[in-house]
Amino acid sequence: MRVGLLTGGGDVPGLNAAIRAVVKRGEGEYGHQIIGFRNGWKGVVDGDVQPLGRQQIRNVLPTGGTLLGTARFHPHRNEGGVEAVLATLEAERIDALICVGGDGTLHAASKIAEAGVPVIGIPKTIDNDVWGTDASIGFDTAVTIATEAIDRIHTTAESHNRVMIVEVMGRHAGWIAVTSGIAGGAEIVLAPEEPFDIDKIERFLKHRHRAHASFSIVVVAEGAVPAEGTAMHYETQVGKFGEIVAGAIGERLKVEIEQRTGFDTRVTVLGHVQRGGIPTAADRILGSRFGVAAIDAVTHDRSNVMTALRGENVELLAIEEVAGKVKHVPADLLAVARTLA
Ligand code: F6P
Repeated sequence: MRVGLLTGGGDVPGLNAAIRAVVKRGEGEYGHQIIGFRNGWKGVVDGDVQPLGRQQIRNVLPTGGTLLGTARFHPHRNEGGVEAVLATLEAERIDALICVGGDGTLHAASKIAEAGVPVIGIPKTIDNDVWGTDASIGFDTAVTIATEAIDRIHTTAESHNRVMIVEVMGRHAGWIAVTSGIAGGAEIVLAPEEPFDIDKIERFLKHRHRAHASFSIVVVAEGAVPAEGTAMHYETQVGKFGEIVAGAIGERLKVEIEQRTGFDTRVTVLGHVQRGGIPTAADRILGSRFGVAAIDAVTHDRSNVMTALRGENVELLAIEEVAGKVKHVPADLLAVARTLA
């Protein structure tokens, strides 16, 4: 078989583990030819092909980023995009296409599947918000980086008696904020799932600093917003792919907290540091497992499915069931972050 492979959307650590697994098992075990497309769906539209063999995957397991390159590009949102994808796949005699991506890439995959191409999705996003899977590639590394950052910010917060705001990624879901906030012992965690009340934050900080502490850590997801009808007015600023203007909510909160409490306040925007560098063992393992599951699925004629971690197992879910849905942080996890404040 000739199997196409692309990585789309924002990069994450662990993508190369998935590529490597597809190539190793696909070529080594099944004798397939693996055809990589450069820069996500853009490469399929442009016919930008990179054949993948053992040579290309040597020593890539511990590396971050994606050796195929990536882009935020959705063929179904560009005129003639779907037709160009179909033409390239036909010209390259692709029997099935493995798409590694987050919500945007997987949504595009479901559109291409509707046009008759056998497609397999692999979920990746540091945001961890792909519906149907317990974890997506990249999330564990991002949480590890964010937790280390919070640990480091703790010592300087305490030395200077400051309120420190740490803004982490997470547009629609606050997985990174909540989990790194719990792991790093943040006093306040703000996630998109639970719009906040700035009056309560003010009361909490004043009480804490009066009663027993001279510093506080506030972890805020970039997509966090104030609750309607509360005192702070703020509108999320987004780019054309829904990406949020980095630092906007962090800076806004800093001004608000400083004005209301008088406490010296600083902001750290972790930004793309969360997506860079070497993947954790967990992300290498997840990428490898998803890669193997995807090529196994192709080989056994399963298509239009996504690999998903469900408990201990990797399962296949219908891609149409997944597309367009967001996996939010559950109430019990939000409650843990609140309880430990
Ligand atoms: O891929 C998800 C994500 O990391 C979001 O958390 C963030 O809003 C966005 O990507 C940033 O996108 P870009 O890399 O295009 O600036």
